[in-house]
Amino acid sequence: MSKNFDVVVIGGGPGGYVAAIRAAQLGFNTACIDEWKNEKGGPAPGGTCTNVGCIPSKALLQSSEHYEHANHGFAEHGIEVKGLGLNLEKMLGRKNTVVKQNNDGILYLFKKNKVTFFHGRGSFVKGDANGYEIKVAGAAEETITAKHVIVATGSNARALPGAEFDEKLILSNTGALAISEVPKKLGVIGAGVIGLEMGSVWRRLGAEVTVLEALPTFLGAVDEQIAKEAQKLLTKQGLAVNLGVKIGTIKAGKNSVSVEYTDAKGEAHTGEFDKLIISIGRTPNTIGLNAEGVGLKLDERGFIAVDGDCKTNLPNVWAVGDVVRGPMLAHKAEEEGVAVAERIAGQHGHVNFNTIPWVIYTSPEIAWVGKTEQQLKAEGVQYKAGTFPFLANGRARALGDTSGMVKFLADAKTDEILGVHIVGPMASELISEAVVAMEFRASSEDIARICHAHPSLSEATKEAALAVDKRALNF
Ligand code: FAD
Ligand code: NAI
Repeated sequence: MSKNFDVVVIGGGPGGYVAAIRAAQLGFNTACIDEWKNEKGGPAPGGTCTNVGCIPSKALLQSSEHYEHANHGFAEHGIEVKGLGLNLEKMLGRKNTVVKQNNDGILYLFKKNKVTFFHGRGSFVKGDANGYEIKVAGAAEETITAKHVIVATGSNARALPGAEFDEKLILSNTGALAISEVPKKLGVIGAGVIGLEMGSVWRRLGAEVTVLEALPTFLGAVDEQIAKEAQKLLTKQGLAVNLGVKIGTIKAGKNSVSVEYTDAKGEAHTGEFDKLIISIGRTPNTIGLNAEGVGLKLDERGFIAVDGDCKTNLPNVWAVGDVVRGPMLAHKAEEEGVAVAERIAGQHGHVNFNTIPWVIYTSPEIAWVGKTEQQLKAEGVQYKAGTFPFLANGRARALGDTSGMVKFLADAKTDEILGVHIVGPMASELISEAVVAMEFRASSEDIARICHAHPSLSEATKEAALAVDKRALNF
């Protein structure tokens, strides 16, 4: 087996494995090193996303939504369910199977594309513009060399000081995806993406969920009107979200966790929970890379410092994904990975940060791309807004899910679409149309004049675009 490569990628998450495949497609002799282990100690490429992130969370969101529908939704459709039961072990087993299918899929893709895979931890030994020596510490230790190195080592859950994750009572995303018995009372610290998604899963399965959020506003980065609607809908479902909270001492007992906190009015409380999820953001993972040994620069927040092209301070060393600045999203990591491989090949890889979509997979889903109304106001941009509620959409009525709306923001003069925000059914799929439109710098009128299938949820997108010009047809 060759030990000298054109490109070595450290990290096999969505940033790393996709970069490796693209580099191999471009004709480079490529290797990817990833240390993630499955329960048998074998390789489990795919990173956070595949093992304890996007994939398992969406599997559990889907299963728990089916359960919720069977419990509360089917009756409206005239379907009577008797003797409904929850087999949590099976649900978690299915989730594990979905994860394994994705791990195996990546190993297959490596073979297909002739990417050499090393299972172990990669670290820099030495190097310069002529090449780098990388040590792989795994089942067998070896040293490989590469002309170009792409670092894609991802991120880890941030802990609260004094409340380290034990994954039994105090859970990060890893433990939150593997609770073996539905907790009666579940505490969640942080009403961000993970808090809302995992809070939704366990609420649907029967837990009483209390979410404690430090900020006074709900989903501050989301368009205010959409965030307000989402808060109303999620609260109605039974997710108790407390804003403006200050967390005090957290104590893990034998079978429960107590959390002292003051609420927005300054009143003191103690919450007793069977399990506590802490989801207050993630930190870049550079441990064990020997960044300092080769002089690889980190920024003041511990991310690998890169320029707009993902170049680090070292020649021919690149970094992508969660370990560098920008949103911590799998598709952002993938886009950066592809762009870097293309830049190594002398091509003009490009990532458009203005059109990276966000999705929160609650029910209803929350999705957006581009600027929020509050951002446009702060930037002094003159804009027009158009909204359309799913309540007035025939397909949403037939589905039995009429919550939420689509909202367009367009430039007041040119009508160029500046942002699209959705809270509602299948928002994750609907947002793609907006991404395409914004990539092509479309106007809201462009969308308004395009024929959309009837009956479909996407008609709400067209109607919101029409509403920008105050000429929605069905509302
Ligand atoms: P990672 O996926 O973290 O992969 C890094 C890999 O590198 C890991 O396998 C790690 O073991 C390995 N590694 C680290 N150091 C070394 C080393 N020295 N040697 C060898 N290997 C090493 N994003 C979305 O876009 N959509 C979602 O729905 C979504 N859901 C999420 C749900 C949860 C619960 C969480 C936690 C995250 C979610 N994310 C989601 C975020 C997404 O998982 C990350 O943005 C994405 O995984 C980042 O990809 P990455 O390749 O940069 O890093
Ligand atoms: P987050 O940044 O989304 O949310 C963290 C929340 O915790 C914020 O609202 C913050 O104000 C709050 N917080 C911070 N410190 C606190 C404290 N001491 N007390 C109380 N609240 C506190 O981070 P989260 O949910 O951990 O997710 C990490 C990242 O993973 C996300 O930002 C996202 O990039 C990615 N992710 C993406 C998903 C998706 O695309 N659907 C799903 C899950 C995660």
